[in-house]
Amino acid sequence: MSSHKSTTIQEAQDISNMSDAEKKHVPMIHIDGTPRAGDPFEVTVWVGEQLSHPSEPGHHIEFIDLYLDDMFIARCDLTPGHTYPKACFSVMIDRSGSLRAYERCNLHGDWTYSLEVSV
Ligand SMILES: [Fe+2]
Repeated sequence: MSSHKSTTIQEAQDISNMSDAEKKHVPMIHIDGTPRAGDPFEVTVWVGEQLSHPSEPGHHIEFIDLYLDDMFIARCDLTPGHTYPKACFSVMIDRSGSLRAYERCNLHGDWTYSLEVSV
């Protein structure tokens, strides 16, 4: 893929058959336990789960964001060389919806992934 910084948000075309660029950049979401309305639960967002992404000044993940539908929940800012692009958030939601993760690579732009949650 091009190293040109894109303004479009990219996602996996086929999550079960991802390209190498997708494996490195799609922010996979994992939920620990069964979410219940108003109770905290753990949401882990892992960039590069299937193919490790670099964490160096010239090429790195700048941040990982988490939304419920269009509502911003949390951001994790990352420092290259000192972080691995994987973030765990303790989240409380009061309704079902789509948990949406976003990440930005300084070379390869913005990427997203979403997971439906029912509470
Ligand atoms: Fe990248």
